[in-house]
Amino acid sequence: MLVPGASSQALAAALADELGESLAAVEYDRFPDGETLAAVPGFDADAATIVASTASNDAYVELLQLQDAVREAGASAVTTVIPYMGYARQDKAFEAGHPISARAVARAVSTTTDRVVLVNPHEDAVADFFDVPVDIVDAAGRLAEPLPELDAPLFLSPDSGAIDIAETVRDAYGEGETDYFEKVRHSGTDVDITPSDADFEGRDVVITDDIIATGSTMSEAVGVLADGGAKRVFCATVHPLLARNARTKLARAGIERVVGTDTIERDVSEVSVAPVLAGEIER
Ligand code: R5P
Repeated sequence: MLVPGASSQALAAALADELGESLAAVEYDRFPDGETLAAVPGFDADAATIVASTASNDAYVELLQLQDAVREAGASAVTTVIPYMGYARQDKAFEAGHPISARAVARAVSTTTDRVVLVNPHEDAVADFFDVPVDIVDAAGRLAEPLPELDAPLFLSPDSGAIDIAETVRDAYGEGETDYFEKVRHSGTDVDITPSDADFEGRDVVITDDIIATGSTMSEAVGVLADGGAKRVFCATVHPLLARNARTKLARAGIERVVGTDTIERDVSEVSVAPVLAGEIER
């Protein structure tokens, strides 16, 4: 039985369809003091697959509550699908006295599940922080589907670390070159992007990345391309977090369109990762 987290309800329903399984009747509530309560009244299956992105602290607590609730209701096998794993980018202690936050949340999740499935985490090594087996799904290929017909397409990643995503999207699209920018991050919202050597004037460019968070990285890259004479600039991202004023930054930079998946359910979530997740879960 599929058990949706509050922020992954559409994806859980799509995954239930793909797998031919039923959806649990989940209730999300909040006490007057602000504490959350996620419950599964009437849950009576032996196996539970919880689908919950953790883009907020509340979502993490709800995930832990759902894992505990299905165990209480008698589930003997629990799989936890975390389509977008919050805190995954805090994968080291950046200064003395800092926590390794990704490890802290991974350990907590591991206490009441048997298996975890992640979609394009920032670094695959985050899997090592869990105390249960972890499978990683690459959904970047889905991002090619909503793209229109492109003129002499160039698929660019904002840094060398994300070139795999550019290549995957290009391969799924079927044609085009790939390249990457050099990126220097000065702070959470201050990013410098140095143009690639690729000739982008008059061409359609798709900038690909695992996540758009504050939009600082993407808007810098879009600005460089728009100023340099690119024809149209698209952003394709697995996790369209789009925090704070990210949309405004992208619009002001001259973006044509953002396409994303439903690991984080937003209006730009044009494609579902459900088919790729179903393939992994059934494997
Ligand atoms: C960093 O290496 C990631 O791949 C993304 O480029 C980054 O996390 C995006 O964050 P923001 O949208 O805040 O620039």
